[in-house]
Amino acid sequence: MTFETLLVDIQERVALITLNRPQALNALNAQLISELNQALGQLEADPRIACIVLTGSAKAFAAGADIKEMAELSYPQVYLDDLFAEADRIATRRKPLIAAVAGYALGGGCELALLCDMIFAADNARFGQPEVNLGVLPGIGGTQRLTRAVGKAKAMDMCLTGRQMDAAEAERAGLVARVFPAESLLEETLKAARVIAEKSLPATMMIKESVNRAFETTLAEGIRFERRVFHAVFATADQKEGMAAFSEKRKPEFTNR
Ligand code: CAA
Repeated sequence: MTFETLLVDIQERVALITLNRPQALNALNAQLISELNQALGQLEADPRIACIVLTGSAKAFAAGADIKEMAELSYPQVYLDDLFAEADRIATRRKPLIAAVAGYALGGGCELALLCDMIFAADNARFGQPEVNLGVLPGIGGTQRLTRAVGKAKAMDMCLTGRQMDAAEAERAGLVARVFPAESLLEETLKAARVIAEKSLPATMMIKESVNRAFETTLAEGIRFERRVFHAVFATADQKEGMAAFSEKRKPEFTNR
């Protein structure tokens, strides 16, 4: 897999995607968003891959949508092209996707991290929705996903003032799952990805789908959905293997069937 704005490295069942536009602090231009979707599509179709990690550089996960590319766009252009609809497709991917965020995750960069299933952060990470400083608003789901992640008070504060949250506040607020010293962020994230990749892929995909359902529906419907998926998992060989291995006091050998 060769791309101009990304590096993709596959280590056994884990794929690492590194955003690679250092000259623009990984600002999300149309090419990067398109290549990211291509890479995720290929990894999704690759049966070897069971977990994906998305990261940036030590200085910036991503400093937002590409302001220089957007500045002169007209309303008909952005409407007809449905600007950023393609970025939102990332949320429809089905395999577990972890964001490893060091440095700036601002605007579209924060929104990209929020499109992932969970965020692991370096202690130098800075999250923010500074679009208001540009006379605009978040456009890749920030007003919605950030609000669901941290609640109305903090989301309003960040979106209206444009202030940044550091990693400690982001973890307290529930935006971030875990925080690591910057130098060990990638190693620790890949370690967690390997743990996930060892599980049954149908089970991890069903878990992802079910947790995400909580953000789309009522509690009663969500519980009903979970129970149906729970019943369905009994059709997998991995359910039989996982439960047999427990009784036989051995490690399960999942076949993703
Ligand atoms: N778009 C385009 N280029 C960007 C960029 C962005 N979002 N962020 C940084 N860059 C470029 C800079 O223009 C600069 O390029 P040049 O060397 O050619 O001038 C290069 O990256 C390095 O950036 P700085 O010199 O600014 O680096 P710094 O360390 O002084 O500051 C920063 C870092 C605070 C992150 C600063 O770059 C910054 O404020 N960036 C913009 C953040 C922002 O407003 N993001 C929101 C974008 S709008 C959006 O995302 C809409 C949406 O919701 C979809």
